[in-house]
Amino acid sequence: MSAIDERRNAGRVVVGMRADAALFLPRPLRTSACVCFFRAMKRAAWTLAWLLLGCHAAKAPVSQPDDPSRLRSPEAFAQVRDMGSRSQALFREASKVMLHPRCTNCHPPDDTPRQLASQRPHDPPVARGNEGQGVPGMECASCHQDVNLELARVPGAPNWHLAPIEAAWLGRTPSQICEQLKDPTRNGGKTLQAIVDHAANDALVAWGWSPGHDREPAPGTQEIYGALMQAWLDTGAHCPQGGLP
Ligand code: HEC
Ligand code: HEC
Repeated sequence: MSAIDERRNAGRVVVGMRADAALFLPRPLRTSACVCFFRAMKRAAWTLAWLLLGCHAAKAPVSQPDDPSRLRSPEAFAQVRDMGSRSQALFREASKVMLHPRCTNCHPPDDTPRQLASQRPHDPPVARGNEGQGVPGMECASCHQDVNLELARVPGAPNWHLAPIEAAWLGRTPSQICEQLKDPTRNGGKTLQAIVDHAANDALVAWGWSPGHDREPAPGTQEIYGALMQAWLDTGAHCPQGGLP
C-alpha cells in the first residue's frame, strides 16, 4: 500500500466515523475526529503538491538521468559545444528508437523476423525470401495488411516486408548501426539525406509508434526521431565511438 493510499484510507475511516458512529460520541471526541480529518486532508494536499512538483522537474531536459523510454529532442543537446560530440550524442539518442524491439524485430541479421518484446523468432516460421517479402505461399502480405488487425493480433502497415540484411540492427551497437547507415555499400547506395527522410516519413517506420494491440511503442515520436536524425546529419553525421551500448 502506498503512502497516499494509506492517507486516503485514513481519511475514509474518519469520514466514516463522522457519518454515523461519530454522531453518538461526546462533543470533544467529535471535534477531535474533525480535526483529525482536516489534518489528513492537509497532509494529502502537501503530498499532492510534492508529487506535482516532482513530475514537473522530470520534464527538465538533460539534467535528468538517462531513461531509455524517453526520447530527448535535439534542443536538449544544444549545450554540447563541440559539434563532433554533439553529433555523436544525437545519434546515440536516436538509437534508443532504432534498438527498440518494434524496429529490431524487422531489422534482424538473419532471415527470420522477430516478435514481441521477447524478440522470439516469428511464429509461424517465415523466411526472408525474395526482397524480404517472404516465400511463395508465406508472403508477408498474405497475413500483414495495410493496417493493424486488432482482433487477429496481426500488425500491419503499407508494404510490410523485412529490412535488407545489410540494414540489420538486432544485436548491434549504436556505433555499428551508425557506420553501416553511412556506408554506401550497405545502405542501398542512398544519400544520408534520403535515409533521414526515410526515418522521418516512412510508413513502416511510423508503425513503430502505433503498433497496435498491447505492443509497446518505440520511445518518443517519429517527429522527434526524424528531428534527431536531421540534427545528427546537420552536425556532420559523426558516429558514436567504441562498442559501448
Ligand atoms: C501466416 C501469417 C504470417 C505471415 C506469412 C507473416 N507474418 Fe509476421 N506476424 C504474424 C502474426 C500473427 C504476428 C503477431 C504475433 C503476436 O504479436 O502475437 C506477426 C508479427 C510480426 C512481427 C512482430 C512485430 C512486433 O514488433 O512484435 C514482425 C516484425 C513480422 N511479423 C514480420 C513479418 C515479415 C517480415 C513477414 C514476411 C517475411 C511476415 N511477418 C510473415 C503473422 C504472419
Ligand atoms: C515491417 C518491417 C519494418 C519495421 C517494423 C521497421 N522497418 Fe525500417 N526498414 C524496413 C525495410 C523493408 C527497409 C528498407 C526500405 C528501403 O530500402 O526502401 C527499412 C529501412 C529503414 C531505414 C533505412 C536504413 C538504410 O540503411 O537504408 C531506416 C532509417 C529505418 N528502416 C528505420 C526504422 C525504424 C526507426 C523503425 C522502428 C520505429 C523501423 N525502421 C521499423 C522494414 C521495417
